[in-house]
Amino acid sequence: MADFKTAPADASVGVKLMNWVDNRFPATQLFKDHMSEYYAPKNFNFFYIFGSLSLLVLVIQIVTGIFLTMHYKPDAGTAFASVEYIMRDVPWGWLIRYMHSTGASAFFVLVYLHMYRGLIYGSYRKPRELVWIFGCAIFLALMAEAFMGYLLPWGQMSYWGAQVIVNLFAAVPFIGPDLALLIRGDYVVGDATLNRFFSFHVIAVPLVLLGLVVAHIIALHEVGSNNPDGVEIKAKKDTKGIPLDGIPFHPYYSVHDIFAATMFLMVFCTIVFFGPELGGYFLEYNNFIPADPLKTPAHIAPVWYFTPFYSMLRATNDGMVNVLSGLAGIAGLISLLGVKGKSRIAIAVSVIVGIALLKTFDAKFWGVVVMGAAVVILFFLPWLDNSPVKSIRYRPSWHKALYGIFVLFFGVLGYLGIQPPSETGTLVAQIGTLFYFGFFLLMPWWSTIGTFKQVPDRVNFAAH
Ligand code: HEM
Repeated sequence: MADFKTAPADASVGVKLMNWVDNRFPATQLFKDHMSEYYAPKNFNFFYIFGSLSLLVLVIQIVTGIFLTMHYKPDAGTAFASVEYIMRDVPWGWLIRYMHSTGASAFFVLVYLHMYRGLIYGSYRKPRELVWIFGCAIFLALMAEAFMGYLLPWGQMSYWGAQVIVNLFAAVPFIGPDLALLIRGDYVVGDATLNRFFSFHVIAVPLVLLGLVVAHIIALHEVGSNNPDGVEIKAKKDTKGIPLDGIPFHPYYSVHDIFAATMFLMVFCTIVFFGPELGGYFLEYNNFIPADPLKTPAHIAPVWYFTPFYSMLRATNDGMVNVLSGLAGIAGLISLLGVKGKSRIAIAVSVIVGIALLKTFDAKFWGVVVMGAAVVILFFLPWLDNSPVKSIRYRPSWHKALYGIFVLFFGVLGYLGIQPPSETGTLVAQIGTLFYFGFFLLMPWWSTIGTFKQVPDRVNFAAH
């Protein structure tokens, strides 16, 4: 009781109420710490809206998901019909469903842009490693959430997409078949699979996602935001301890984010109302056909946001495994030149074992490894980049070109993943996959090379 503050006798009811709450729960303090007295760099640009927009879409997905669950039936016999019922008979059901399906794609558009921002401004580097790692875990959880949600409408693509992906787990040596059985709950994708995917999609993964998003933002507010110059604003503070280049998040960036949210919602509503299928990219046409375990569609492709990784999986055939073995050999030889003594034996043994493993297991298994590694490698980014500057603004021009090619290849891989396999497509996907991994694995070396520009002491900002 001793620490209780008392509101002045003539204070308004609102102030008295807030005082009552604050004596029991630090509402005002939390608002100050995370909004009105959280100092963010004053030079945020367009790329800094995607975190808040991702939060907005997370809320849209949870709210529309709750309403969908009220009418959806997680049963292989009735699932497809229950979605049609939502679309035709439930008042506003079509709107809720289209918001949810468009929200899924919007989420990935925003998160990819958000990650790209982190990449170009070096936001993953010290002291923001954990912000990035939580982000990567969010990305993984989001992929799992989208994959399991896609099975629920029980259309042809839901069914066969899940069949293809779950079968990949069967390629894992020794435990694969049992692992696939555990995931499916049956020998084929069936009612048991639908039930477990439903429970993971509506409760397990969303809980993990929410926890990770909270951890992501707590970690960010602990160290403070980066900015397009990559200058640490906490290094220069005024006498009150406020960063000289910082401005309170509220009202400056809350207004900025509300503006961005209205712009985003305009685009979002346009898609929801006028083109929810978006030419088959947001809702695949084959998924309007009920799942038929006896009829495999001619061409099975995952939804667009998975296709860059799916392309890498398809690119890993026997030829690619040979190339990887060759590269492992060359990398081993180069390392051998630089070391002496026992390390030489260790390197030689690891390379021989590595190549033997590559040759022993099926290319399909290595495809799964490559696909998984493409996501896992992102977690290590903070320790791969050795460049003396954070932001792309102060890097050599050829670094910018490299980032451009990276984005280009990622887009091309995404495009190829949607197309039926072809010889040229596979070759391009193989080059794209090698570039993707080369970009990250050789980063400790290339990120230090070139002439870097002088990073200013203070951020660059011209008031509009
Ligand atoms: C549900 C998904 C996500 C939500 C809701 C979310 C939310 C946010 C918010 C609100 C911010 C602060 C505003 C901003 O800088 O844009 C932020 C910053 C950040 N996020 Fe995320 N995020 C998500 C996913 C990710 C992913 C997948 C990554 C990377 C793999 C990531 C990496 C970062 C980084 C590095 C920052 C700090 C950026 C800086 O200070 O320059 N986030 N996030």
